[in-house]
Amino acid sequence: MKIGVLGSGTVAQTLAAGLMKHGHQVKIGSRSPEKLAEWAAQNSGATTGTFADAAKFGELLILAVKGNVAAEALRLAGTESLKGKPVADACNPIEDAPPVKGVLPFFTGPNESLMERLQHEFPEAHLVKAFNSVGTPRMVDPQYAAGKPTMFICGNNEAAKKAVGVIIEELGWEVADMGSAEAARAIEPLCRLWCIPGFLHNQWTHAFKLLQQ
Ligand SMILES: NC(=O)c1ccc[n+]([C@@H]2O[C@H](COP(=O)([O-])OP(=O)(O)OC[C@H]3O[C@@H](n4cnc5c(N)ncnc54)[C@H](OP(=O)(O)O)[C@@H]3O)[C@@H](O)[C@H]2O)c1
Repeated sequence: MKIGVLGSGTVAQTLAAGLMKHGHQVKIGSRSPEKLAEWAAQNSGATTGTFADAAKFGELLILAVKGNVAAEALRLAGTESLKGKPVADACNPIEDAPPVKGVLPFFTGPNESLMERLQHEFPEAHLVKAFNSVGTPRMVDPQYAAGKPTMFICGNNEAAKKAVGVIIEELGWEVADMGSAEAARAIEPLCRLWCIPGFLHNQWTHAFKLLQQ
């Protein structure tokens, strides 16, 4: 599949490399694509470009930028290139402020979410929350004695969730679909929970698993 990754940070680079490893064609985007030259040189087959280039290229997109500029990144991607496409949204609404006793501050309230705001502003895109509540060292092909960890997803478009679910499973996860975009109100805060052992005890290699009978 052709996948456009919007973002140049650690999440974008990790997912782009992981998706290429699993056979996908990837274009990774930045406002300054030249900053990805070294990464592209180390990841043969990868192509780079602007957010607009990556969005145009991808049949499926991944949004992995700072939460408070996610809307700006989608604007730069261009609504025409978002139309009808699944957009896996890894972004978290983290404020530019330090954690309080290990708990990250969010700029969203409890009865809303960043992804709902984005879905409202970009109705042509099919946003799917994913990849937001695990650190990059365990994002691709995670290995745990207890088995596959769980990736919680949500979104309003069933076909988009199915498409994103396929790549999540390819990357070594089991998928738990929590329903419509409103479920991002619960999935985004998982990032705050996930980060607490990191900030308090420097433990960054855990992942969530949903146990079911
Ligand atoms: N770090 C993790 O382990 C982790 C895990 C799960 C989820 N997340 C979430 O994933 C997202 C990406 O995290 P990250 O650590 O990889 O990267 P990051 O440092 O949060 O974001 C870097 C990206 O933000 C873009 N950006 C910054 N200012 C911008 C602006 N004014 N307009 C448009 N784009 C702008 C940058 O674009 P340029 O390339 O143009 O500079 C770059 O691509 C975040 O929302 C984060 O909360 C992070």
